[in-house]
Amino acid sequence: MSVAKREIKRITTHVLHAMKEKGEKISMLTAYDFSMARILDEAGIDILLVGDSASNVMAGHETTLPITLEQMIYHAQSVIRAVERAFVVVDLPFGSYQGNSTKALNSAIAIMKESGAHAVKLEGGAEIEESVRRILSAGVPVMGHLGLTPQSIYKFGTYSVRAKEEAEAQKLLEDAKLLEEIGCFAIVLEKIPATLGRKVSESLHIPVIGIGAGNGTDGQVLVVHDMLGITKDFNPRFLRRYLNLYDTIKGAVEHYVSDVKLGNFPNDEEQY
Ligand code: KIV
Repeated sequence: MSVAKREIKRITTHVLHAMKEKGEKISMLTAYDFSMARILDEAGIDILLVGDSASNVMAGHETTLPITLEQMIYHAQSVIRAVERAFVVVDLPFGSYQGNSTKALNSAIAIMKESGAHAVKLEGGAEIEESVRRILSAGVPVMGHLGLTPQSIYKFGTYSVRAKEEAEAQKLLEDAKLLEEIGCFAIVLEKIPATLGRKVSESLHIPVIGIGAGNGTDGQVLVVHDMLGITKDFNPRFLRRYLNLYDTIKGAVEHYVSDVKLGNFPNDEEQY
């Protein structure tokens, strides 16, 4: 008897563009390790982002700034090994592309070559145009990221909603159009008014993925540790928690500790 292999259609930039054209929403989550990436991929996620939020949720830093290119590559390699269907995007970390397009190109190439990822993501608009152009010229797909850009936290001073004022909203729209024009395949919009998120999405042909950018974008992204409730103290309005894994895991571990202390684990069936 022959066993039919599961037919898997990989997500590509073309598939993502077709989804936007058809009005089919795009699902995206972060992933940083093999085990979680495997679950998310099997669950049917369209895009996995190896986000520099690994700096916060995996390494415990206060900001995304400390994570290095080598550390991002390590996370990306782990994710890529797990994935059969999703499109995998990797963040270029702080300091690996700003102000130096040759460095940007080399960073992007290192990520693509050493991890096998499918695309990179950079934060910013006109100010990083040259870096984006150089990376695109090497045939590497680029995802933009506008609005709240956490790598610039010390410039903003806070993680509050961006582009509430007309001038900043106008600049964001122009940056989004520029990124589309020079060849980015998609853009993330973070923490901006919903009306602006919808306007940008309707103004562009490429997919726009929102995080705290309302329901009018072409897709949504969340940090997986936040939506599963593994993190506890981060509670922005845009976050929907689908589980409370912090308490579930804590309860299970308390149970295990108690079983070990009481000599209830292992039992007769759990030993040789
Ligand atoms: O690093 C990250 O998790 C991100 C998302 C917030 C989009 O960039």
